Amino acid sequence: MSDTGLTLSSEYASTTPLQIRIDTHARHSEHHGDPVHAVLDTLELTGSEAVADIGCGDGRFLAQLVEFGHRGRLVGVDNSTAMVAAADTVPGVEGVLGNAGDLPFAYDEFDRTTARHMLYHVPDPGRALRELRRITRPGGRVAVTVNHPVTCGRTRQLVIDHARGFGLTPAENMANGVNSTTLPTMMSEVFRDVRIHSFDNALIFDTAAPLVRFAEALFSFCGIATDSPHRGSVLAAVTTDIEAWFASHPGEVWRDPKGYIVATAIVQ
Ligand SMILES: C[S@@+](CC[C@H](N)C(=O)[O-])C[C@H]1O[C@@H](n2cnc3c(N)ncnc32)[C@H](O)[C@@H]1O
Repeated sequence: MSDTGLTLSSEYASTTPLQIRIDTHARHSEHHGDPVHAVLDTLELTGSEAVADIGCGDGRFLAQLVEFGHRGRLVGVDNSTAMVAAADTVPGVEGVLGNAGDLPFAYDEFDRTTARHMLYHVPDPGRALRELRRITRPGGRVAVTVNHPVTCGRTRQLVIDHARGFGLTPAENMANGVNSTTLPTMMSEVFRDVRIHSFDNALIFDTAAPLVRFAEALFSFCGIATDSPHRGSVLAAVTTDIEAWFASHPGEVWRDPKGYIVATAIVQ
């Protein structure tokens, strides 16, 4: 049985695990590939558009737009107060507490709308897609990113196996199964002419420490809550296993395939 209290809101009550995962992807990807640019490339921004990023996390996507000199309105929406507070500290970005299924904006309020790596957390993803369409003006663009069905599965399975040894299993309320296989059809039910851009990559580790750090940042998705009495024991077991793997595979890297799609549409 999973620990009680293991929910999306507990996972995103702090920005730290998300930041560790993003940092790991930036440092340990096999091929250079920046997911921010992958989305930006599809948005065709001129610099003056009103942009809403739904499920904005700590606001780093919008921070990049500020850095690139974007002059239009930039709004980051998240249902975690910690994330909204972080986004709000970015000069030029408006952090808004809100739910993807019921966005606090008028019809056609934005020129560009993004939902990056968040749709798999939403209870009714079809409704969230219709909300993206509602708040985006005709002729405006929507971009949605989600992972491949199995992404970083090797590391995740290692954690899940050790968690199971302590009677812990992944909580079902953390993810809804929307992935790169299912999203294109869902998008086509809401938008016309959906374009799909697919990115395949892998995480690569040549030492144990950053892999252990990444594995711990996956704990809540593997059934281990922050305050679980078993957290320390699972971490010790995962660390031992990872260190043993590197000791018995000198000169080899731990490779864990991953990938995502960017699905885009122009609102009619
Ligand atoms: C995996 S993180 C991705 C953050 C950011 N988009 C990125 O790519 O770095 C998912 C984010 O979606 C937010 N989130 C989850 N469910 C949400 C919902 N129903 N409405 C708004 N935000 C939500 C979480 O709080 C979290 O910040």
